Amino acid sequence: MKTQIIKIDPLNIDHKKLEYAANVLKSGGLVAFPTETVYGLGANALNEKAVKAIFTAKGRPSDNPLIVHISDAKHTDKLIKAMPKNAEQIINKFWPGPITIVFERSKIVPDIITAGLDTVAIRVPSNPIAMKLIELSSVPIAAPSANSSGKPSPTTAEHVIEDLFGKVDIIIDGGVCQVGVESTVLDMTLEPNMILRPGGVTKEQLSLYIKNIQLDAGLLQKSEDAIPKAPGMKYKHYSPQSEVIVVRGNVKVLSRKIKELYTSYVSTGKKVGVLITNTENKLEYSDINNIDISGSLEKTASGLFKALREFDEMNMDLILAEAVVNEGIGLAVMNRLLKAAGYNVVNI
Ligand code: TXA
Ligand code: MG
Repeated sequence: MKTQIIKIDPLNIDHKKLEYAANVLKSGGLVAFPTETVYGLGANALNEKAVKAIFTAKGRPSDNPLIVHISDAKHTDKLIKAMPKNAEQIINKFWPGPITIVFERSKIVPDIITAGLDTVAIRVPSNPIAMKLIELSSVPIAAPSANSSGKPSPTTAEHVIEDLFGKVDIIIDGGVCQVGVESTVLDMTLEPNMILRPGGVTKEQLSLYIKNIQLDAGLLQKSEDAIPKAPGMKYKHYSPQSEVIVVRGNVKVLSRKIKELYTSYVSTGKKVGVLITNTENKLEYSDINNIDISGSLEKTASGLFKALREFDEMNMDLILAEAVVNEGIGLAVMNRLLKAAGYNVVNI
């Protein structure tokens, strides 16, 4: 397939170019586009053949449902059976933005989107290119992250090109994604409401509006026999080719312990890199392979997937990753790191 790359400045959108991409989407084509979280691979959600092509391009298992993206909350009603009573407040507060809400679905949502579930996941992204593209297409857009299945999600157009060039019609290059981890998936069909995937909107933010909000038990620990409620969470996601070990403990001794581990793995002939997430003691790594994504938790989140891809380009055998706190967007960072590591953690 011939893939067109179209560059669009999010601060000065060229509407002609977006209209062209929207028409390709509407008529059944595949268009990768930036959102505030990660790049998405879009298709007309009401066109089964187009949605099928998403699964083929990504190599995605068909039992993993897709998020439906809309340009305005007012389009939710026809996709769902009923609006849960506390959902309106969450929608008003957090849409457009990095949160996906799971509702009971209406009949117009094709089975292929929901992988046969009775529910549908919906989100209004806030990235201006994403919003305008969906609006111009005048249909709901199904969009998983625009990576090959199993690879870290793409946060730049270059990442999408690496994974999907030749497999999709258009890749819109709209620069770097701000949040860098995917949207929070909040299931409002369950009582109490449950976070199925931590993401851009934090548990702390949601707790202000939802009493007794729950976290799916499998998010921070391995739960092989539990059936994951977000089917996508069971796959070994976000994985770079290199092995990952998360190292967790007091920051005062973290760098010393990591350097010990580094030395012992290097002596077995492995190529090892350190993923730095803490500012304290980071100078101690200056003589060894490292990628520094420390600073605020937001900065760490936005640099995480890019760093995992960069380690792969460096052909690392092993990444030693400093843990972060399970607070704010740190919860999403830890969830992605633990998954990349297959829950392999060294506690010090
Ligand atoms: O930030 C994001 O959410 C990005 C951008 C492109 O919007 N999209 C994204 O899509 O991350 P994807 O397909 O990579 O992840 C969707 C997650 C999966 O874990 C999937 O299992 C879950 O949402 N999901 C989708 N529909 C669901 C449903 N009806 N019930 C429960 N989980 C659902
Ligand atoms: Mg994904």
